[in-house]
Amino acid sequence: MIVRPLRDSLRSLKSLTGTPPPFDPSAAPDNPFDLFVEWFTQAVDAGQVEPHAMALSTVDADGVPDARVLILKDLTDEGWWFASSSASAKGVELTANPVAALTFYWPTVGRSVRVRGTVTRGSDDENARDFSRRGLGARAVALGSPQSAPLGSRDESEAAIDTAARELDAHPELVSPAWTLWCVRPESVEFWQSDAERRHQRLRYSSQGQSWSTTLLWP
Ligand SMILES: Cc1cc2nc3c(=O)[nH]c(=O)nc-3n(C[C@H](O)[C@H](O)[C@H](O)COP(=O)(O)O)c2cc1C
Repeated sequence: MIVRPLRDSLRSLKSLTGTPPPFDPSAAPDNPFDLFVEWFTQAVDAGQVEPHAMALSTVDADGVPDARVLILKDLTDEGWWFASSSASAKGVELTANPVAALTFYWPTVGRSVRVRGTVTRGSDDENARDFSRRGLGARAVALGSPQSAPLGSRDESEAAIDTAARELDAHPELVSPAWTLWCVRPESVEFWQSDAERRHQRLRYSSQGQSWSTTLLWP
């Protein structure tokens, strides 16, 4: 076994050093959307860097899991929204297996949220509108590059993206057909709050159709 020089460093690092705001699960809202907004706002107010970054976990056609970091684009009554290419690895996985989990971690407030559910796509209109709202650079990348496909060289991608940027300059109405909004429609949402003595608090909401039940979980 090769021992990498990380072990001592890992052991010396502290975790869960943030300060959670007060949380009383018995006074929590009757739905996870409102509690998410409350916790997200508190993370922003506490100065959490990039609180809208989240891990998106998917499962491929063979049942093998995959995960990557994405940006949360919206939260509606339908669920948690993100945007990406339907031709990407995650797009292919979501097409084969339209289920996903999202994980947020906000170290500043020592909190994490997990969302699990089924995934649906935005309509063509919604996808096109979201694409059009992006800056030229982001649109050029989305239009000119097949996300997740093997790339021969940096020169190849630069040339393709530059070409796409020129096309968009000439035809600003162009929309990448692969650009897709996805919505994770929650079946369960867990709120996790750290405790200095490791007596962490966990509250899980489970969908009961039109309403939600809540369960406390052992830490
Ligand atoms: C902070 C952060 C935010 C990101 N946001 C997005 C995003 O909103 N959409 C996206 O397609 N990729 C985003 N990425 C890149 C993804 O992590 C990933 O590399 C890409 O989507 C390809 O994933 P896939 O091959 O699993 O489909 C982001 C990466 C980071 C680190």
